[in-house]
Amino acid sequence: MRTKCQKGDPALFKTDLLAIGLFQGSVSPNSLFTQLNEQLKNHLSTVRSLHDFSANTAECKLLYPEGAPAKRILWVGLGDRKDFTLKTLRKASEAVGREALRLGIKSLCMGLHIGLPSRFRLPEIARTCTEGIRFGAYRYDEYITTNDPTRVGKLIVTFLDPRHVELKEGVKVGQVIGEANALARTLANRPGNALYPASLAMEARRVARRDTRLDCKVYDQKQLESMGMGGILAVGGGSKRPPCLIEMRYKPRQKLTSRSPEVALVGKAVTFDSGGISIKPSADMDQMKFDKSGGIAVLATMKAIAELDLNINVTAFIPAAENMPGGGSYRPGDIVATYRGKTVEILNTDAEGRMILCDAIALAEQRKCDIIIDIATLTGACMVALGTHKAGLMCNHAALVRQFMKASDLSGEPIWHLPSDDDYAEEMKSKIADLKNCGSRWGGACTAAAFLRQFAGNTQWAHIDIAGMDVLHVPSDPNGPSSSGFGVRLLTMFLYNLQATTASS
Ligand code: BES
Ligand code: MN
Ligand code: ZN
Repeated sequence: MRTKCQKGDPALFKTDLLAIGLFQGSVSPNSLFTQLNEQLKNHLSTVRSLHDFSANTAECKLLYPEGAPAKRILWVGLGDRKDFTLKTLRKASEAVGREALRLGIKSLCMGLHIGLPSRFRLPEIARTCTEGIRFGAYRYDEYITTNDPTRVGKLIVTFLDPRHVELKEGVKVGQVIGEANALARTLANRPGNALYPASLAMEARRVARRDTRLDCKVYDQKQLESMGMGGILAVGGGSKRPPCLIEMRYKPRQKLTSRSPEVALVGKAVTFDSGGISIKPSADMDQMKFDKSGGIAVLATMKAIAELDLNINVTAFIPAAENMPGGGSYRPGDIVATYRGKTVEILNTDAEGRMILCDAIALAEQRKCDIIIDIATLTGACMVALGTHKAGLMCNHAALVRQFMKASDLSGEPIWHLPSDDDYAEEMKSKIADLKNCGSRWGGACTAAAFLRQFAGNTQWAHIDIAGMDVLHVPSDPNGPSSSGFGVRLLTMFLYNLQATTASS
């Protein structure tokens, strides 16, 4: 998808599809509607008076106008004007993207940004629209060998507006974030036989090759052994596909001030989670190919921040392993020495995410960064607590929580703050080792976070549990249960704001 902004009049533009927004009720329609209505000899107001279209958020109506330059006009509901937020606009824009995909069109003229309440900044509106359309027009078709009408061709989106300079500012950011999100979805949707630790490392190298400011280093099984990465090695031991640790580094061109923080991103990449010796039930086990989503969100975020030219130092650590039962598997009862020495008694091999993350977090802490952020499909318990509507945020620093809540608002990726204090950490103590890898039946998302927190030392740390958010469960989704790419937008907006407040002065 490519997005352009230029001066011009959407009503006079030749396009496959022109999208316009409508609020509910008798609110007078926007200037574009009025102009098109005149052009079409009151056809639009006639259709509107039939009340077939109630303009609920993201509700769509397709019209085939006679006598307009656009081949099709798509009415998109924006709900009640007084309840309008950027979330409404994102949902409506996603619907536009889905329609563009369904119709298989090549050119789209975007008009949803016209006539919105003036309290929203134009660049934010443009970014939201661009991300939304890209999200809706996503199709996972790598393995479709027949001709599928919903296959994506190249879609060109055009914003025509006298305020094109301001729009362009947001479109540029939205385009980068939208494409990074799409890359994350494609990698996460790839099945376990195609995406495994070594092939994920190849993808990271490929992303890094395209930008001189990105570096990629991969520690293989042998190197992990000499480093003492006992957690990653234990989890990867049962698979024929050896584990690895991917490190990516972004160094901006511009020299940074001493105030600028060093950030470490850590992402769980379990390329398939069978549970290992503590094997999972077979129902829906196929969905455990998505257990790499945290690591992939980190990878795609690195691509996005490089393309956005952010002025901040970021290092990514992506521990990658396949959790399988086999002769080399770790077992319940084992005691594992993790990186830098803490020992962990294994009670359940299915609590593997924390075992690979703790090594990577300990390494990030050793490198002396200012903020460590980890993201993982960590616990079914987080899904029980928050459902499939919000990710869990656990954190050891109040200001960091606020920064994440802001990034969540701006990115449209919802999170909810949950505890991970010493009461929870207490449950993770073992009698025969420093820690055990699972606690009691209760509060599993919080005890898992409290386990990880202990590897971050005194460094500011945030943990995002995306179990339940990594996969979209929309029955009508042409991609089936598929990856949402959750985390890319949240992490990128977090870093975007962080560099904006620390790079200057
Ligand atoms: N990857 C799973 C968590 C998960 C479950 C993610 C469902 C998405 C959907 C994780 O490795 C896991 O198996 N966690 C266990 C931990 C338990 C054994 C302490 C869980 O949540 O059941
Ligand atoms: Mn597991
Ligand atoms: Zn897992």
